[in-house]
Amino acid sequence: MSKIIGTPEQGPLNSIEEWEDDLLVRYPDADAIAAGRDTQAYRDYEATTKDSVREFYRLQHINQTYDFVLQKKQQYLSFDKQEMTVWEAFDFLNQLVDDSDPDTDLDQLQHLLQTSEAIRADGRPDWMVLTGLFHDLGKVLCLFGEPQWAVVGDSYPVGCAFSDKIVYSEYFDQNPDHHDPRYNTKYGVYEPNCGLENVHMTWGHDEYIYHIMKPYLPEQALYMLRYHSFYPQHRENAYSHLMTPHDHQLFKSVDLFNPYDLYSKSPVPPDWKKLRPYYEDLVAKYLPATLKF
Ligand SMILES: [Fe+2]
Ligand SMILES: [Fe+2]
Repeated sequence: MSKIIGTPEQGPLNSIEEWEDDLLVRYPDADAIAAGRDTQAYRDYEATTKDSVREFYRLQHINQTYDFVLQKKQQYLSFDKQEMTVWEAFDFLNQLVDDSDPDTDLDQLQHLLQTSEAIRADGRPDWMVLTGLFHDLGKVLCLFGEPQWAVVGDSYPVGCAFSDKIVYSEYFDQNPDHHDPRYNTKYGVYEPNCGLENVHMTWGHDEYIYHIMKPYLPEQALYMLRYHSFYPQHRENAYSHLMTPHDHQLFKSVDLFNPYDLYSKSPVPPDWKKLRPYYEDLVAKYLPATLKF
């Protein structure tokens, strides 16, 4: 597979796709999830996970603190890093591809196209197709030098107690917030059912692309972008106490989107040349000529 690699200092994964490959092990397919997962299966998952993935989660869980997230928001949400057309952004993302990998699987643009094409094939609204095409563009954070654990990984709230339903939650013991009375209670800095828009999530590609697309896409699309890695909620229902009825309503969109992200991988790559005119029109319909990163 052509994979996003980055430098060895950025983290233990061979590529940031290793996290996503591991998600498929944890959540094998939509039917298994619908049927529910027993505790034994979950233990088996943890027992068999690769060391690199476990080390990745350890680093994520000890380093994603409330202060870290606020600092990254200040650093990135001024959008003064780079201005690119959508197509330049895709080229930029694909710079990280490791062409030396002999596996003939699919690069990052292919994952995005397969997601968007699967959404289109099901006759979903065009803004959802566009959301599929963009949902992982925030991974450009890797190119700005961010460590893997600040680009990918399951997302979850910071500033309140970490749920024990988060994968490898035992590593939170080494997170300073876990021992800080401001942040380690059920609600922490938040109020009961305050609404997810008022909650700081871990910093990563989801949060970043959500903020980039915020002015342009409908609210359902923004939920799909911001929460597409929020497995502790959409699979484990661990943070309902922070959510409003409106959040729950909009989470139906996140649930609708998620299988397209996880399970749309097809061995036949979409023909980008043939598809490009359709996507050029779609991008022009919703987005300005350039995006600010
Ligand atoms: Fe993603
Ligand atoms: Fe994805």
